[in-house]
Amino acid sequence: MAGLGEHVTALVRSHGSGDDSLFYAVAMQIAAHEARQGHRLLADDIKKAVEASREATPRRNVTKLAQPRGDLAELVTVDHPEVSLRDLVVTDEMEERLEQILAEQRQRKALLKHGFAPVHRILLEGPPGTGKTMTAAVLAHELALPLFTIRLDVLMSKFMGETASKLRVVFDGVADRRGVYLFDEFDALGAHRSGNDVGEARRILNSFLVFLENSGPDSIVVAATNHRRILDKALFRRFDAVLTYALPDPVHAVAVIRRRLGSLGKGVRWLTVSKHTGQLSHADLVKAAESAAKSVLMRGETQVTAEDLIVSLHARQAASFD
Ligand SMILES: Nc1ncnc2c1ncn2[C@@H]1O[C@H](COP(=O)(O)OP(=O)(O)OP(=O)(O)O)[C@@H](O)[C@H]1O
Ligand SMILES: [Mg+2]
Repeated sequence: MAGLGEHVTALVRSHGSGDDSLFYAVAMQIAAHEARQGHRLLADDIKKAVEASREATPRRNVTKLAQPRGDLAELVTVDHPEVSLRDLVVTDEMEERLEQILAEQRQRKALLKHGFAPVHRILLEGPPGTGKTMTAAVLAHELALPLFTIRLDVLMSKFMGETASKLRVVFDGVADRRGVYLFDEFDALGAHRSGNDVGEARRILNSFLVFLENSGPDSIVVAATNHRRILDKALFRRFDAVLTYALPDPVHAVAVIRRRLGSLGKGVRWLTVSKHTGQLSHADLVKAAESAAKSVLMRGETQVTAEDLIVSLHARQAASFD
């Protein structure tokens, strides 16, 4: 049972990170604690105060629950993604690895009690449009955590010269507020804007790695890149898991299209379609499916055919080779 001191600490933390729902949850815990002590009137008063305060909070604040404050606000955006593991089309092996990461996070308290840390530093690498950013969203959704995306572009341009100190602010956030922290296009960190200032680029990357090393196991830090080759080999060792994404094979390609079309794709001859998916990424396949669906709907029909899909797949391939 948490004591008063711990409750106050939790209240202050939740206030600091702008997490109203956590703030109220802690207040309700205090009410329950008081009730158990026989302080019914006090418990009722706390509950009423929470309810009144919740009602007084405008609805729009729902989406701002975990809105970062202060310096963090400029550097980090927050989302509560709705995309689940089912939506992600990946190889069986990748799915197992993701399940494993989720399981370790879900049971992290039991693992930590015995001195084992759950996987919490993950590098995602692979070609564009194969699901790296989506994976970060899936992890957040499956663990019911907010997804914080670090604006590396802002970090590198606006705060040039103070990048390392701003990284500290971000990693303070990682420690204070449980969430999935995505460093998208992470290779930008090692490629400093000022171009030939190799020393500065190194320093930034090194400070990232030091912060990464010291980051606690409650939050998940995800770094994503599609430039494996430019990354230092030694860097891979700093992550607990490195997941490699690839373009889909025809079976997975069809799965991506089917998922996007839903009932519009009921009568499609999928075997025919699978011969035309070429080297398209998951993201391109989604776009091809969407364009086929739209032309069908605009013709006043409700069923996409293999021919519709083949036309849009070929158009997409032509566009991606431009
Ligand atoms: N593996 C996948 N399964 C299902 N849909 C996918 C998959 N990968 C990508 N998509 C679709 O393509 C969109 C873009 O993918 P995403 O942003 O995750 O790609 P990425 O690997 O991060 O690419 P980039 O390297 O360009 O950032 C997703 O929102 C989703 O609609
Ligand atoms: Mg991405």
